[in-house]
This record gives sequence, structure tokens and C-alpha cells, in this order.
Amino acid sequence: MASDQELPEGTIQNILDQETLKWVFVGGKGGVGKTTCSSILSILLARVRPSVLIISTDPAHNLSDAFQQRFTKTPTLINGFTNLYAMEVDPTVENEDILGADGTDNFVSELANAIPGIDEAMSFAEMLKLVQTMDYSVVVFDTAPTGHTLRLLQFPSTMEKGLAKMMTLKNRFGGLLSQMTRIFGAEDDFGEDAILGRLEGMKEVIEQVNKQFKDPDLTTFVCVCIPEFLSLYETERLVQELTKFEIDTHNIIINQVLFDDEVLESKLLKARMKMQQKYIHQFYLLYDDFHITKLPLLPEEVCGVEALKSFSQHFLKPYEPSIVRGTVEELEKRISVLKLKLKDAEAELERARKGKQKV
Ligand SMILES: Nc1ncnc2c1ncn2[C@@H]1O[C@H](COP(=O)(O)OP(=O)(O)OP(=O)(O)O)[C@@H](O)[C@H]1O
Ligand SMILES: [Mg+2]
Repeated sequence: MASDQELPEGTIQNILDQETLKWVFVGGKGGVGKTTCSSILSILLARVRPSVLIISTDPAHNLSDAFQQRFTKTPTLINGFTNLYAMEVDPTVENEDILGADGTDNFVSELANAIPGIDEAMSFAEMLKLVQTMDYSVVVFDTAPTGHTLRLLQFPSTMEKGLAKMMTLKNRFGGLLSQMTRIFGAEDDFGEDAILGRLEGMKEVIEQVNKQFKDPDLTTFVCVCIPEFLSLYETERLVQELTKFEIDTHNIIINQVLFDDEVLESKLLKARMKMQQKYIHQFYLLYDDFHITKLPLLPEEVCGVEALKSFSQHFLKPYEPSIVRGTVEELEKRISVLKLKLKDAEAELERARKGKQKV
């Protein structure tokens, strides 16, 4: 972290430098650029790590759109890379997918009703268990909008509650449950003992994952937002929740920022830029110990590997408005436009001064 005088560097270089990181979550409000940012992070990580996996846990998958390639629930190599894989998992899968269509439905749905989110938590745990065996150097999560993500991150405690509930049920009702499962058609092998065994088996994974998620050497959460009130508010809520779950977060990406040069011609954009600056200022005040990376709003979508790669430069170098970049001709043209505008502004000021004098 930076000293009091110095702001942390405004790039995500710190994530690339943190060689111990194993899990990188990218989250934020709907539509702010989570998929774009997680895709770019995974591309950048693939340059410095032996193997990278990007997972979308958003039921409305859009990694396929960003990379313009179809992905499934098994990791697929992304075209043009040798060490970057993507998979799209659905955390809201049917119960059968988790426990198998083995006649234990009544029991599982009973459990699912008793502990909200247990089915989702179990499928997330299963997925993590699988991913852990695959041995990727780092895993990037493109998460669903905030509420959903927070629910997923609570999954270890949801699972623990589930286990505790199962234990009480078992202790309280003893043989009654197994009798019931038999009555309702479940074979002995697939009765509550089997489910309990399964949950118990997962307990170890959960505890391990829970420990890893709470270890800032292994896990970090990147908050993506836009410079608007609601997004600032939601980011604060997210940061607070993450702190509550003891999950490290020290990077904020402010996406869709309007910079001076793009808005010279438009009053509307100028007004929006002013509004954005107000919230950007607040982000800096609230999160002075965070790395805050600002990304420009582009006139077009960021679609396909080439566009993602080109946009990735802003993750590594604080954005310079294009006013100071370009060919000599382009710069000359921009400067002459600015000179004209300056003349107009001076004339305006002169008129205003004269008007004032008259008063
Ligand atoms: N800085 C930017 N300039 C222009 N377009 C952008 C920028 N960032 C993202 N986009 C585009 O905005 C759209 C939404 O971005 P993205 O899909 O990354 O958001 P998201 O947070 O993942 O959305 P969702 O909540 O729906 O999953 C995409 O079409 C993307 O290409
Ligand atoms: Mg998305």
C-alpha cells in the first residue's frame, strides 16, 4: 500500500505483479464493464502466468460475446492463445446436476427450501472442486451483477449452515428420515446418509476454499464501476460486504470515463463529464488506498480479442487523452481548433467584463 502522501498507482499492474494470486474476482453493477475488464485481465495475466482460466458465473454469459467464441462448462482454449482458457458455468443448475437424478429429489428440495441458496452454493462448490484439480496458475471470475456475486461468495457459510441443518435433522429424527426416503422411493444407497456423506465430503473443499478466499495472498476482488452516483453507492456496498466476508479488495476500475478531448464539441457531454469528475473525485477521496484505474469511454463496443488487446493498454498505463497523442498533422489540427476556441472564450470573457463594468 502507498504512503499517506502518495496515491497508489492508477493501473492494475499490482495484480500482474502479485505472483501468489490464485483467484481474481471481477464484479460490479450490471453493464459497467465486468466482462470486458475480466477478459482483459485474463489476457494480461496470460502474458505473465503459465496458464490462466477465465470463468463466467453469470447466467447471462457474455464471455462468448467478448471473445467472439463459443464456450461451455468445460475449459476451452481461447483462439489465438496457448495458455488462456475460458468456461461458462451456470450457478443455478438443476438439483439433479448436483446430486444426480437418483431419486433424492424430495430430500434435496426439502434441504434447498430449508437453506436458501444451498443448491447454488453446492454447484459453485462442485465447480471450484473441479477447477482446483485442473491446476491453473490463476483463475479469473467474471461475475454476475453485485447481489448475485455476494450470494456466491457467501457460499461457504451457506454450505456450513446446510451441513449443520442436516446434522440436526439426522440427530433429531434418526431412523425416521431414512424410513421416509425409503417410503418416498429412494434406494438405501441414495438415502439421506448418501447426501450427508456427499455434503460432508464437500466440507473439506469448502473449508479449504473458504480459507483461500480469505487469504489476500491468494484472492482479490476487483470492483468495476462507472463514475455515477448509483455505481459509487453500489461500489461502497460491495466493498463493505467484501470486508465483512474478509475478502481482499484494493482495485477499482472506473470505466466509461469521458476525457476532455472527446467532448470539445458537445455541451451535453461536457455536462456529463463534469458530473463524472465529481464522482471520480469522490472515488479518490473514499478509496485513497486503492489502485484506481480509469478507462475511457470508447465510441464503439469492445468486442473480439483484437479490441480487447488494444483496450488493455489503459490497464497498464494511466489514460492520456488523445489530445497529446497522434500524428503531427492531427496534433496541429487539434491545436488550431483549441486556439480558435481559446479566442472565442477570451472574446466571451471580454464581453462579460465589459457587461459587468456597465453594471
Ligand atoms: N469503455 C468502454 N467504451 C465503450 N464500450 C464499452 C466500454 N466498456 C465496455 N463497453 C461495452 O459495453 C457493453 C457492456 O460491457 P460488459 O459486457 O463488459 O459489461 P458487464 O458489466 O459485464 O455487463 P453485464 O452486467 O450485463 O454482465 C459491451 O458491449 C462492451 O463492449
Ligand atoms: Mg458481463
